[in-house]
Amino acid sequence: MMYSEKVMDHFSNPRNVGEIEDADGIGEIGNAKCGDIMKMYLKINNGIITDAKFKTFGCGAAVATSSMATELIKGKSIDDALKLTNDAVVEALDGLPAVKIHCSVLAEQAVRSALSDYYTRQGIDPLPIVGEIHEPEE
Ligand code: FES
Repeated sequence: MMYSEKVMDHFSNPRNVGEIEDADGIGEIGNAKCGDIMKMYLKINNGIITDAKFKTFGCGAAVATSSMATELIKGKSIDDALKLTNDAVVEALDGLPAVKIHCSVLAEQAVRSALSDYYTRQGIDPLPIVGEIHEPEE
């Protein structure tokens, strides 16, 4: 079997799908090669991510990784969310096929893009904190 049960679960029954109307940070990232797009909405209170929702127009692995990413950052501090790597998302999903690893990078970068927007809205330069947002290279 190519996909783990967890991937299938998060693909068939994704958590936190949707938008947050009064989001404090909105991120968007795409992958030019496959054309997939991920949007991430965060609600942030006192440095804590109190809510996270996403909309992914993309492959099953992109849906599963964005679902898992929102689960992993909800209730966490911004600092913890900034430490979220695509590897951690893949591990939480019990792995992904090698050709689908780039989909998890999309999830990692969508979170960072939303945090970047959050800092920009606060009048803070996000670059030294969040770093460059980059498209998956593969
Ligand atoms: Fe594009 Fe998965 S194939 S994100």
